[in-house]
Amino acid sequence: GRTWTDVGELCAEMKGETVLIRGAAQAIRPTSKKIVFLVVRQSMSTVQCILVVTKDVISPQMVRFATSLSKESIVDVEGVISVPDKPITGATQQVEIQVRKLYCISRAVPNLPFNIEDASRSETEFKKAEESGEQLVRVGQDTRLNNRGLDLRTPANQAIFRVKSAGVNKGRQFLLSKNFVEIFTPKVIAGSSEGGAEVFKLDYKGKPACLAQSPQLHKQMTICGGFDRVFEVGPVFRAENSYTHRHLCEFVGLDVEMELKEHYYEVCDIVEELFVEIFNHLNDNCSKELEYSPKRLTYDEGVQMLKEAGVEIEPMGDLSTEAEKKLGKLVSDKYNTDFFILTKFPLGIRPFYTMPCYDNSEYSNSFDVFLRGEEIISGSQRIHDPEMLTKRAEQCGIDVETISTYMDSFRNATRLHGGFGAGLERIVMLFCGLNNIRKCSLFPRDPQRLTP
Ligand code: 4AD
Repeated sequence: GRTWTDVGELCAEMKGETVLIRGAAQAIRPTSKKIVFLVVRQSMSTVQCILVVTKDVISPQMVRFATSLSKESIVDVEGVISVPDKPITGATQQVEIQVRKLYCISRAVPNLPFNIEDASRSETEFKKAEESGEQLVRVGQDTRLNNRGLDLRTPANQAIFRVKSAGVNKGRQFLLSKNFVEIFTPKVIAGSSEGGAEVFKLDYKGKPACLAQSPQLHKQMTICGGFDRVFEVGPVFRAENSYTHRHLCEFVGLDVEMELKEHYYEVCDIVEELFVEIFNHLNDNCSKELEYSPKRLTYDEGVQMLKEAGVEIEPMGDLSTEAEKKLGKLVSDKYNTDFFILTKFPLGIRPFYTMPCYDNSEYSNSFDVFLRGEEIISGSQRIHDPEMLTKRAEQCGIDVETISTYMDSFRNATRLHGGFGAGLERIVMLFCGLNNIRKCSLFPRDPQRLTP
């Protein structure tokens, strides 16, 4: 076979070498009938390729052929590396290819809904280009998501999913090193795992079933089954009704469940270690710096800070999105961190399986984790006593029949345990400073979107 070079590897040291690359023709700029510039992209890297009519090598027909290519067509380019005197602005690689051979492998339709060059521009670049009189077409998020197979080609999108991949892999490495076992629980289950209305119901060969709202019940059952520490990375389904910047109907959850020796703070310790490890890794490799020295406050302390700042919270109630944002700002100003844990939430606003505080059953052994003022994780100690669990499930209006096998698992005696669930898209959105969770899901599912 022939030797292929990745566009990202092209560098000045290769001056004079003949290379062969394959990529998408992102831009095609003829400057005359004799010269055409092609910008060829492979994943996140681009290189400028030049065809100049020269006797025996590049014919006028070749230049005409290159000029007639449609944007985003896949091309093979063979040519010689040269290094121009001036810095190259329209491509990531600081070398050019003097083209000798050009083949079109796959032709794109001529009228794409948007072009990758424009869609790749930052808001600042956009404004600058418009001021200088360039005619650019802005495309809305829906058009981009409708054409996700095209949209994913922008460097920003390529980067988002690399951050997601790097984060998950770092997390997995960390958890495995701490003796967690990776598990895979069923996604079609008999009863809802979190309660509430956000559940997709379906028919399972004549039996009522639902899509798992979380691995909650089954991850706890693995602890009943003798595992000390488990984790799962997998899809989570929520039949959300509201259309917001941070809710999807399907997202990727990172779930952890572990035996506790004494206190649910052992779970908080793991959360801190895990996410400090992940954020350190991402800061080193993905350069969106984040202040994340972990800080812990109780719910009451958080509510007190909000009160002092003039924000009223319904007594023992949930924090609204605005209150969360405000608290994030207050904590960031006071403790200089974007990452904090709020503990000891009122029992009444937590799921049925949450352990009440031993000394005050109005509160619970639970916590939420916040990043840049938005919730990214929630966790708790779980009830391991079957009678207490049944009572709490009934109080919370759970149909106990549908989760009877889960309830029964606790009759064989189970250790103290706890865990947490994290939403990957939310973490990536906040880490990257993005304004919409849809950007962090390859093919987002929201209350209005089931395709592509
Ligand atoms: O707070 P949630 O519902 O907690 C659970 O699922 C528990 N079983 C976790 C546990 O182990 N106790 O969801 C956990 C996380 C949230 O903090 C959020 O990051 C994310 O999942 N999340 C969503 N992400 C995107 N779209 C949605 N609709 C989400 N709902 C929750």
